[in-house]
Amino acid sequence: MANEREKENAAMAAIDFVEEGMTVGLGTGSTAKYFVELLAEEIADGLMVKGVPTSEDTRRLAESLGVPLLPIDHVDRIHLTVDGADEVDGEAQLIKGGGAALLREKIIANASDLMVVIADPSKQVDMLGQFPLPVEVTPFGYTITAKKVFDALKAAGVAKPRIDVRTSSGNKPVITDGGNYILDCHCSVIPNAPKAARLLSDVPGVVEHGLFIGMARTVIIGQDDGASVFEY
Ligand code: 5RP
Repeated sequence: MANEREKENAAMAAIDFVEEGMTVGLGTGSTAKYFVELLAEEIADGLMVKGVPTSEDTRRLAESLGVPLLPIDHVDRIHLTVDGADEVDGEAQLIKGGGAALLREKIIANASDLMVVIADPSKQVDMLGQFPLPVEVTPFGYTITAKKVFDALKAAGVAKPRIDVRTSSGNKPVITDGGNYILDCHCSVIPNAPKAARLLSDVPGVVEHGLFIGMARTVIIGQDDGASVFEY
């Protein structure tokens, strides 16, 4: 069970990466929420930055706290993105999308000069795959797409993938901010994450997957009494 203090300390350490005048990608999830709250405090104290939210949840949160936001299509440079992760391995490869925001998170992280990941120690793994890998797919043909996603994971060396459509209460598929479905792919272990990422990207109907490979260059792991910063 993650400790809130660890998440908050990771978020606090990420504030050191924010500089006056920056455009900052604002991540999604319970750890990123701490960062948005701390950033709002800095803004209230006079820091001039603008945020680009990675989800409607984060947009609502940031707006409620008075963080000035830029619509994504008015942004020409994102200096920094700070976001959480569901898993992070020793090469800063990530699984993201537990909060169903992976598409916007990846677009914004990929467009950023620097992606900083903030997490508590429970997110650190030797090999990705224990957390079910989220894959965002178009509703049209999603059962066919799910079969192709299964084949892609098998071809990437996942022994026995099991795929569930993410549902909410009432057993209806969760609809992402982009109007798509999420397939949660239970893998146990993903032996070759870059290969899995490539093969998943090739499947028609896959809008985006939650493997973030070569994107994070800084990972901050919060502890009870501080945080450790790892550079890649
Ligand atoms: C949302 C994400 C989140 O960053 C990820 O799920 C981690 O969330 P939390 O900080 O609540 O554990 O990828 O799509």
